[in-house]
Amino acid sequence: MKRTKLLSLVLAIIMLAAVLTACGGGAANGGNANDGETKKVLTVATNAEFPPFEYFEGEKIVGADIDMMEAIAEKMGVTLEITHIDFDAALTGAATGKYDIALSGITANDERRKNMAFTDDYYVASQAVIVMAEGEYKKVEDLAGKTISCQEGTTGEQYLLDNEYKVQSFKTGAEAISALTAGKVDAVVIDDAVAKALSEKQNGKTVVLDEPMTKENYAIATKLGNDELISEINAALAEIKADGTLAKIFEKYELAFDAE
Ligand code: ARG
Repeated sequence: MKRTKLLSLVLAIIMLAAVLTACGGGAANGGNANDGETKKVLTVATNAEFPPFEYFEGEKIVGADIDMMEAIAEKMGVTLEITHIDFDAALTGAATGKYDIALSGITANDERRKNMAFTDDYYVASQAVIVMAEGEYKKVEDLAGKTISCQEGTTGEQYLLDNEYKVQSFKTGAEAISALTAGKVDAVVIDDAVAKALSEKQNGKTVVLDEPMTKENYAIATKLGNDELISEINAALAEIKADGTLAKIFEKYELAFDAE
């Protein structure tokens, strides 16, 4: 017991030292003692409640978006500083420039383009519907006017509000599906790959309907007018699309790669 405590203390000190060094590197007169050059830091807001695009593995944020952004960062010669926040806060954070970018399985649409700018698309998604496997709803049309849960601030939520469903919004998709299995709502609407990942965790109690509600495209968001950053990201994104890196990343997470 004592030894583990000591070990955790030593680990904590090492981690603190690492954090301090990393911060120092970002300072104006900073620099990495090892390579003598300071890599620019790109601040990234994400909502890591969205497997397989971004989620926590222990303390670490992982996922297809994160791997993709690491590959882009490498091409750009920058390092990433990733912060986990609510999804709506990630969008606002990018729009106001609090963070350089928001990377969060974000659907690029005209409504959002009024307040923020987007890079090129990198993934084709849809809003999918999760229902109870043994329940009465088998098709999207069976759900007209019913109560549906979703994640707050998402395009799924907007679609439900626009189409006269009764809506229950949650901070996370995991809470939205818990509402379904608890019998509080009739269905969940969330992005297709995430619907699949969340539904798979319910031991067969839920299923994803074949028919999606909408089609959409994911892109990285940043502040309006951030044109230089957008072209740098787009150039790197084009490279990792062309050289197979992105296809490989998506394959790792069982996501379809749409080369456009
Ligand atoms: N694609 C949807 C949207 O842009 C949902 C994204 C939610 N992402 C997340 N990491 N929670 O509204």
